[in-house]
Amino acid sequence: MPALTWTETLRLQQPQMDRTHEEFVALLADVRTRLGPPPVADAPADTLPADATAAVATAAVAAFERLLAHTVEHFAQEDRWMQATGFAPENCHSRQHALVLQVMHEALRLARDEGRGEAMAILVDELGTWFPQHASMMDAGLAQQMVALGFDPETGTCRQPLPEAAIRHCGGGGCGG
Ligand SMILES: [Fe+2]
Ligand SMILES: [Fe+2]
Repeated sequence: MPALTWTETLRLQQPQMDRTHEEFVALLADVRTRLGPPPVADAPADTLPADATAAVATAAVAAFERLLAHTVEHFAQEDRWMQATGFAPENCHSRQHALVLQVMHEALRLARDEGRGEAMAILVDELGTWFPQHASMMDAGLAQQMVALGFDPETGTCRQPLPEAAIRHCGGGGCGG
C-alpha cells in the first residue's frame, strides 16, 4: 500500500485544520519511511521488518511518538472546536478520536516497552487508509459547522447562535451516531 501523501483533495478550506492535517500526513509518512517498505501481505508480521536495524527501529518509534504527540493535540483542538460550535461532549467524532488515540498508545507501548513493532507497523498503514475517510466525513462536518456559525478559531467565538439542541452525530451526514 503506498504511503498517504498530502493532496489538495484533503483540504477542507479551514486553514488551521488544513495545516494540522498536512502536518499529520507528513509525520505519518515519516514513520512509514523509518519503518522501511510496507510488509508483504502474507509475510509473518511479528517483528519490525527483518532488515531493520535496532537504530532504524528506535528511529521509527521516536517518529511514532512525534506523530502521537501531534495527534493528541490535533484531536484535542477539534474536540475544543466541537464544544464551541454546539456538539455534545459525547459525539461520534470525539469518540472516534478517543478510540484512535487508545490504539496508538497501545501500539507505542508494545513497540517501545516490549520491542514488538508489528502493531505499530500495521497501524501506520491503517491510519493512512483511515485518515482521508475521517477527514472527508467527520472533519469536513466540523469545518462546515464552523463556517455556518462564523466560528473564529483564534478567539473561540461564533458570530451566530449555537444550535438549541446539542449535536450528537458527526455532522458529516454519513453516520448513524
Ligand atoms: Fe482532523
Ligand atoms: Fe477529527
